[in-house]
Amino acid sequence: MAGISKLEKDEMTIEVDPAVLENSDADYESAGYDSSTQSLTSSINEWIFENGRRYHVYFGAEKNLMPTDEVEQDRLDMHHESLLQILSGKLHLAPLKEPHRILDVGTGTGIWAIDMADKYPSAEVIGIDLSPIQPKWVPPNCRFEVDDAEREWTYAENSFDFIHLRNISISISDWQFLLGQAYRCLKPGGYIEHCELGIQTLCDDGTMPDDHGSKRCMEYISEAMTSIGKPPATKPTMVDNMKEAGFVEIDANTFKQPIGPWPKDPRMKRIGGMSVLLSETGYEAYGMGPLTRILGFEHAKAKKICDDAFAAVKNKNYHVYNHYYVVYARKPEEE
Ligand SMILES: C[S@@+](CC[C@H](N)C(=O)[O-])C[C@H]1O[C@@H](n2cnc3c(N)ncnc32)[C@H](O)[C@@H]1O
Repeated sequence: MAGISKLEKDEMTIEVDPAVLENSDADYESAGYDSSTQSLTSSINEWIFENGRRYHVYFGAEKNLMPTDEVEQDRLDMHHESLLQILSGKLHLAPLKEPHRILDVGTGTGIWAIDMADKYPSAEVIGIDLSPIQPKWVPPNCRFEVDDAEREWTYAENSFDFIHLRNISISISDWQFLLGQAYRCLKPGGYIEHCELGIQTLCDDGTMPDDHGSKRCMEYISEAMTSIGKPPATKPTMVDNMKEAGFVEIDANTFKQPIGPWPKDPRMKRIGGMSVLLSETGYEAYGMGPLTRILGFEHAKAKKICDDAFAAVKNKNYHVYNHYYVVYARKPEEE
């Protein structure tokens, strides 16, 4: 993985900015840490209190547990920028050479697919999603289709050079079926890349208390998803799924996503600042469905758990992060 320094890889501890430790105030703002992405906060604030959240109801309450309303669309677009920063500006890690056909499964707002179409103007890029939330004005080599990736794919065998899946694990019930479809539709030698945020809230320097709000919220989400047979993605399960589907040359990577602008390194600080902004609606987006529909919590209890999670990551004294897994592999040249 040329171009990605040791700094971002999992084995490195993220160094805390000494200035964060300087005064006793718990919040970033009073300690002089105003994020450079402040304008994005205001755009999120414009939507966050409007008319509740909008979910896709296709196939019932367990199919898509996350909202797809405008608030969520803003979050997805901002998260795309933050994930790009984590990968040092790379849209993918698989070593692609002049791809002709690319598929993005669970494309969301289509922002990754649009960027890929710009990066590879001679490739055809298709994004599929359950929800028609993609823009109309897109590069001529990019198009979107409303489709359920968990149903038999209609694409021809051996027809894609690259298939990409990012942050869709909360919705997928049968990975072997989904990856089997991807295997069939990839050309021999073609690449698949699966990226997921880890659900655990982590800390390397002992500053995270046991009852940290984000840790608690993520534990509830994990309990809910495991109880319906959709345990959160981990690097080992992502690798096992790829192996089982027949993919080879599996390359599994773990990155750290700091939550809060506590790191010393300027790029990590920027990612951490964006993560806090993302958290403002992120815990609710990931949490409210599983907590109310699966665990049966009252709306007020679930909302408090999500609010407590956001409050905890705004506290500059807790140096927390989560993992971002990027696993890519190939369909063998010869079966
Ligand atoms: C958290 S969003 C991630 C969007 C995008 N991949 C990204 O990283 O910006 C998950 C998306 O997957 C879509 N999705 C969930 N289950 C799906 C399925 N079975 N088929 C197609 N899309 C699905 C949802 O509608 C949602 O837009």
